[in-house]
Amino acid sequence: MYIILLGAPGAGKGTQAAIISDKINLEHVATGDLFRQALEQGTGLGNKARSFMDKGLLVPDEITIELVLGKLSSAEGGRFVLDGFPRNLKQAKALDEALAKQSRDIDKVVYIMVPEDVLLKRLAGRWICRSCQAPYHSVDSPPKVEGRCDRCGGELYQRPDDTVETARKRLEVYFAETAPLIDYYARTGKLVEIDGEGGVDEVSQRILVALSQESRAE
Ligand code: AP5
Ligand code: MG
Ligand code: ZN
Repeated sequence: MYIILLGAPGAGKGTQAAIISDKINLEHVATGDLFRQALEQGTGLGNKARSFMDKGLLVPDEITIELVLGKLSSAEGGRFVLDGFPRNLKQAKALDEALAKQSRDIDKVVYIMVPEDVLLKRLAGRWICRSCQAPYHSVDSPPKVEGRCDRCGGELYQRPDDTVETARKRLEVYFAETAPLIDYYARTGKLVEIDGEGGVDEVSQRILVALSQESRAE
């Protein structure tokens, strides 16, 4: 089972991927998280990715595609929720080809829709866990203990690319490069549009209902 979560920076991809991967037993693969982990570990991949991430630009396709396809082929279960990949048409086509070689296919693409002013507020208030990457929000979903992750007790920090200036750049890149994927997947009949406003649990519920309806219809 392959689910893709599509949406702008701050739409709630990471938040919802963590919830639905627990509920329906999928592996959560988030390219942004993989790059940030590599950065924390000081690996070559992290260093290559840093300069692009700090500017709000996409990391080059060669690096990103190899990273994700390696991850998908090495895992055993074959059940994934992809968060932050694909991010442009080249990545989407590379994923299609790789899955076709394994006689697999994407089941659903969940497009989480959130207005731009809400996105910017969410990014400005976000804190994430240094160990497990779980996202929190200072107002909308604060941790139980200030500065500490509810899931693993890790330290919370603000992403360097969540400044107003870099967040705006990321949105610009999203509209130019990633938003065309909405049409790309709509043409395959796999796109489901989800209202991403409202509480975290409300949005999860909408996604889970959409996924179960689809699988019943098939
Ligand atoms: P990435 O880490 O993927 O960042 P992004 O796409 O900009 O998305 P975000 O993580 O900012 O948003 P999200 O949708 O996950 O929102 P979240 O759930 O945290 O990518 C970072 C960088 O890595 C890129 O700029 C690029 O350089 C590189 N990169 C990554 N993938 C790449 C690729 N495929 N190709 C090339 N480069 C790549 O929620 C946001 C906030 O809102 C949180 O504080 C959360 O608590 C809060 N929140 C969530 N839901 C709700 C709700 N319903 N109500 C209220 N608050 C909510
Ligand atoms: Mg995220
Ligand atoms: Zn944590």
